[in-house]
Amino acid sequence: MCGIVGYVSSLSPDAAGHSALDVVLAGLRRLEYRGYDSAGVALVSEDGELASAKKSGKLQNLLDEIEAHPLPEAMTGIGHTRWATHGGPTDANAHPHLADGGKLGLIHNGIIENFAELKEALLADGVAFASETDTEVAAHQVAKNYRATGDLTEAMRLTAGQLEGAFTLLAVHADEPGKVVASRRNSPLVIGLGEDENFLGSDVAAFIDYTRRAVEIGQDEIVTITPDEVAIIDADGNPVQGTPFEVDWDPATAEKGGFASFMDKEIHDQPQAVADTLLGRFDLEGRLTLDDMRIDESLLKSIDKIVVIACGTAAYAGQVARYAIEHWCRIPTEVELAHEFRYRDPVVNEKTLIVAISQSGETMDTLMAVRHAREQGAKVIAICNTYGSSIPRESDAVLYTHAGPEIAVASTKAFLSQIVACYLLGLYLAQLRGNKYRDEIETVIRELQEIPAKIQRLLDEDKQQVVDLAAKYKDTQSVLFLGRHVGYPVAMEGALKLKELAYIHAEGFAAGELKHGPIALIDEGQMVFIIVPSKNGRDSLHAKVVSNIQEVRARGANTIVIAEEGDEEVRQYASEVIFVPQTATLLAPLLATVPLQVFAMELATDKGLDVDQPRNLAKSVTVE
Ligand code: F6R
Repeated sequence: MCGIVGYVSSLSPDAAGHSALDVVLAGLRRLEYRGYDSAGVALVSEDGELASAKKSGKLQNLLDEIEAHPLPEAMTGIGHTRWATHGGPTDANAHPHLADGGKLGLIHNGIIENFAELKEALLADGVAFASETDTEVAAHQVAKNYRATGDLTEAMRLTAGQLEGAFTLLAVHADEPGKVVASRRNSPLVIGLGEDENFLGSDVAAFIDYTRRAVEIGQDEIVTITPDEVAIIDADGNPVQGTPFEVDWDPATAEKGGFASFMDKEIHDQPQAVADTLLGRFDLEGRLTLDDMRIDESLLKSIDKIVVIACGTAAYAGQVARYAIEHWCRIPTEVELAHEFRYRDPVVNEKTLIVAISQSGETMDTLMAVRHAREQGAKVIAICNTYGSSIPRESDAVLYTHAGPEIAVASTKAFLSQIVACYLLGLYLAQLRGNKYRDEIETVIRELQEIPAKIQRLLDEDKQQVVDLAAKYKDTQSVLFLGRHVGYPVAMEGALKLKELAYIHAEGFAAGELKHGPIALIDEGQMVFIIVPSKNGRDSLHAKVVSNIQEVRARGANTIVIAEEGDEEVRQYASEVIFVPQTATLLAPLLATVPLQVFAMELATDKGLDVDQPRNLAKSVTVE
């Protein structure tokens, strides 16, 4: 939510090969997925002039504005792409916000909870406000502290101590060219290290075109970057060391690579994402290697409950995983939306293992739930796709999904990778606790390893059928999805993809629930996707879902059936069948989800919608 970039260099634009504006705009292009309500930049020239530009709407509007009214050359700059919280998406509410007579520029991600009382005090001081945002309050507060201290770092430190809520703040001041100062609390920020230049970003995508050397910043820390120095202090002003890391993804993986959209590319990345998430996970004794493990094995042996916490698509990955974890480990497993878990006084203790799933690692609802669970004594394992982000940092152990950067706002490859990572964790726990014999675990691993090729075959052979289907149903107003067992969360994920991309009513149901109410929705022509379980798994379940198809078909529904290759029986009840390769029942979601992703993307594209940046959404939800 909100993309943030900061840059300083001692080189001339010619020597560096780029100006601050080039770097900031390149960063904003890569971060636009974090929010696209408005964008803006502030630059400070060497002779101490601050210039800024901001525009509501997508980044292109800002680029047009800058082309029409060019900004002076500078080698210090900050940039912001916004997902509106306080105040609508207008030019005035766009960041940066200026203070100190236009000499200070500030950008912000997060929500400042005590903005009202601070604003009142600033108004009493005679400060005039130009926007409805909480950010402008922070800008004037930094300016006030700057007037008192004459030092931007100190002004930022004092301000951070006066703010409540979640924030990443970046500020520049005309009187301190060659410097960007930042602070963070419960909101992401990383440093990028260059030669004679340094960077700040909401995530590494902000500077990946320029450097792969990065530094994590801790909670409540203040960072000052100049061209040749990066200084971090804590809330009391004591120097602290950040944690350096190397960004291991290639900038090309964050490009569309010839695909029409990031989403299309990321759907096609899935075979690789699954393969990479499986890669190198077991040692010679067959034990799962977690990326970072700070939980004693004896403790893992004694846990008596697992609670998976996550939001949205990540929570559906958790729901899929529950079937496998309970089956393999015989540990009661609950899955709960992080924001509900956090505020319902859940029963967790030292014997509870929390599995926090998050692609971004920054989802505030999940982060708050992690903190709450740890306060109750529970151990937390994070399953995350973003190295060094807050949730893995604050967990006791981490299992990274290696899906690579996910840029499209709607999650695709992260979902499949999260399921795979949860399965690895389940197998590991089963092995550790002696629930499963080694050969059974090896069979599942072997079947998992066959999944990438099966997804590839699905994309190569069946995609066109789904593309045609989407074109045929382009004007549909409502789509229902039915599934049982692991097919149930797949149904909900299929519905979510369609809602967020195509803006049409879509709902996923447990097929067994149909007769308890939802069947009243079925009318002539109602489109219904049904995910049919394998015949080779629990035969009785297959028969029950086939009955469900007949029930909705008898009431006039158009039935789109997703079934396993060879399941010819379903043809007679289906308006259309999409066959997916055969696999073990528990692994079926890794295949059945793919046509649903393609359907939602294609239908939205046929409607002329932007599938990478759906309305009202942002990639990582860093406010509660
Ligand atoms: C839907 C989607 C969201 C995210 C959710 C959690 O396509 O992307 O529902 O899954 O906001 O995000 P992370 O995984 O970053 O915590």
